[in-house]
Parts: sequence; structure tokens; C-alpha cells
Amino acid sequence: MLEFREKVSLKPYNTFGVDVITQKFIAIDSIDTLKKAITLSKKMPFRILGGGSNVLFTENFDGATFLMNNKGIIISNEDDHHVLVEVQAGENWHEFVVWCIKNNYGGVENLSLIPGSVGAAPIQNIGAYGVELKSIFYSCQALNVIDLSLKKFNAQECNFGYRTSAFKTDLKGKFIITSVCFQLKKVPHEIKISYGALKVHLKDKLPSIQNVAQAVIDIRQSKLPDPKKIGNGGSFFKNPLVSNSLLKRIQKLYPEIPNYPNSDNQVKIPAGWLIESLGFKGTRDGDAGVHKDQALVLVNYGSAKGSEIVALAKKIQSAVNQKFQIQLEIEVNIL
Ligand code: FAD
Ligand code: EPU
Repeated sequence: MLEFREKVSLKPYNTFGVDVITQKFIAIDSIDTLKKAITLSKKMPFRILGGGSNVLFTENFDGATFLMNNKGIIISNEDDHHVLVEVQAGENWHEFVVWCIKNNYGGVENLSLIPGSVGAAPIQNIGAYGVELKSIFYSCQALNVIDLSLKKFNAQECNFGYRTSAFKTDLKGKFIITSVCFQLKKVPHEIKISYGALKVHLKDKLPSIQNVAQAVIDIRQSKLPDPKKIGNGGSFFKNPLVSNSLLKRIQKLYPEIPNYPNSDNQVKIPAGWLIESLGFKGTRDGDAGVHKDQALVLVNYGSAKGSEIVALAKKIQSAVNQKFQIQLEIEVNIL
């Protein structure tokens, strides 16, 4: 018999550390438990939660929260060059990366220290330091929330893009990812160190997957706030893509604006630069603030409500829009 906990605070379950109450709460340790929990929740809405590192709660939830906690890592196939590893959704992402590095499997090292669960990683196609999840993704298994059937998705069906996938768009709310299968590389590894900060940090060190992972960890720890110390959800906004013509107009006033070519017609601009240039970096409105070392990260200094963090985000969006005619898109899931 499944036991839901009643009226549970989600404060320990979201990295912003926002205090809201969910009517019911249950940890999911298997597909069977997940199916039963959905069946028992038929009359109330339910939500899936992994590590809570990409959500911002703005109100209490009159429904059931399912915490994905199914565990297991198995090698499902291998040859001389590659290994297929199937990982249950409730595994911690960084612990999985550490497991790969220990076993000398390459491909995930640039994604070291990203918080959250393996099951959530395909949802926004996590990315960092020149690598996105899609480059090592082989397939995932997901449960259809209506008929409780299991379906396998290949990379094409997931429609991965920059911080997006089919699970965030067309299939939103329709499937729960139960496991993810990754294709990793045995030696020789393909080391990716094109990202500026990573190249600089590695300097003359041997470009091994171990050294890349350590460099990524060092860089991240030097500028991203540790959610255990200061509540946050990583980058609050996506980096915007703008047309070359808009960039040229902005460059007339701000020739120093950093920009990275994305396609023939578009460039990516770091939202952190736009926010910093408006003077928001290190500022705070009550307990909601903009981090002092990374302007793209909004923080909760203690008891900020989700709505207060959203209000600060709106103020930033409006200031950026007014000055640069760029609409910043929120990356974090506002609930
Ligand atoms: P949650 O926050 O629990 O959930 C996120 C969304 O996915 C919710 O809508 C939830 O309902 C849904 N979901 C979760 N699990 C499942 C599932 N199994 N099936 C279906 N839906 C599901 N992201 C990056 O891409 N790159 C970074 O470099 C990065 N750095 C970060 C640094 C910090 C300090 C923090 C706090 C966050 C960072 N993030 C980064 C964002 C975050 O870590 C990722 O988005 C991560 O994949 C979220 O995982 P989670 O388990 O915490 O998801
Ligand atoms: N910048 C500033 N001021 C700031 C922050 C950044 O001017 O306060 C400018 C600088 O020019 C800097 C550039 O932005 O060189 C890039 O900064 P950084 O390398 O810190 O990366 P980012 O663009 O701010 C993105 C991701 C991160 C990811 C890093 C590394 C998005 C929305 N964010 O941040 O992902 O870890 O690159 O690849 O794409 C996340 O999604 O939560 C996240 C942390």
C-alpha cells in the first residue's frame, strides 16, 4: 500500500530554498510505484520533482508531488570503442558523472557538477562548457501519464535544442522519464576544450577527462553560488539569440558587448553581461537578489518568496528590454 505524506514543505526539495506546501508527497522508487501513485492521484493534479534545481515555486500546491528516487546504473551494451549505460531517473547527475570518470568513460566530463537528477537532464538538454546532453544521449524511457504505457524515445524524437526538448514543448506534462541511456566513449577520448574559460584554466595540463572534469568543477565553484549556502536555480534566463542587425545597432553604443556567432543571421549574447551592464549585479530587493559573481543567477538570501524572485526577474527583463530591445526568456520553471 502506497503512503502519501500529507502537507509537506518543499523547502528541502528545491535549491532556491523556497518554502511552499504540497498537499501530498511521495518518493518514487520504481516504475511500479510511479504507476500506482498516478492511479491513486487520478482526482488531483500531480507534479514530478527531481533535484528541484530548475524550479521556482511561487505558491502552495493543491496536488501530489512525486519525487523521482529510482536508482541504478547498468551497462547495457559495449564494444571496443563505446559503452551504453542505462541510468535510472532518480540517480544524482553529478554522481553519475563521477562514476563515468572513475570508469574512464568519456563524454560527460564537461557537464560535471550540474545539480539535479539524471531523469531531468534531457528535459532542458542540460549544457555547459561547450557540451550539451544531446551529444551523449542514446535514448530514454518514459511513462505515458494517461495510459501508463512505457515508450522509448531516441534523440531525434526528443527534438533537443538550446535548453529545450520535446519534453519542455509538445510533450510537456505527457511523459515521465524513468531512465536515460547514454552512449559514452572508451579511449581514445574526444576532449572538448573550446570554451574560453576552460581552455585558459587547463593551460598546459594534460587534456584528460579527469583534468577537464576538475577544471569545470573549479570554474563552477569560483563563480556559481552553492545552493546549500545561498538558494538559487543556476542561470535564471537563457542567453538570448539576436539578429546581426540588432547587434550592430547595440555595438554603436557598446562596442565591447560580447557575442558568439550562432548561425548566419544570429548571434548569442551573454545575458549576464546585459544584466551586469545595467548595474544589477550584487544588488538585492529584500531577500531576492542578483549574485555578486554571476549576474545571470538570481538568489534567495534567506526567506524570499518565489513571487519576490519573479518580481525581481520582471524588473530585470523590463530594464534589459528598454535599454537593448532584447526580451530575456526565463530558463527556470516557474510553478
Ligand atoms: P527539477 O528542478 O526537479 O525539475 C525540472 C523540471 O523537469 C520540472 O518541470 C520537473 O517537473 C521536470 N522533471 C524532473 N524530472 C523529471 C522526469 N523524470 N520526467 C519528467 N519530468 C521531469 N543547467 C544546465 O543546463 N547547465 C548548467 O550549467 C546548470 N548549472 C546549474 C547550477 C546551479 C547552481 C543550479 C542550481 C542549477 C543549474 N542548472 C544548470 C539547472 C539544473 O541543474 C538542470 O536543469 C537540471 O537538469 C535540473 O534537474 P532537477 O532534477 O533538479 O530537475
Ligand atoms: N558575463 C558578464 N557578467 C556576468 C556573467 C557573465 O559579463 O556577471 C559575460 C562574460 O562576458 C562571460 C560570459 O558572460 O564571459 C559567459 O559567462 P559564463 O561563462 O559564466 O556563462 P553564462 O553564459 O553566464 C552559460 C550557461 C550556464 C553554463 C555556463 C558554462 C545559459 C543560460 N547558462 O552561462 O548554465 O554553466 O554557460 O557553459 O546558457 C544554467 O543553465 O543554469 C547554467 C548555469
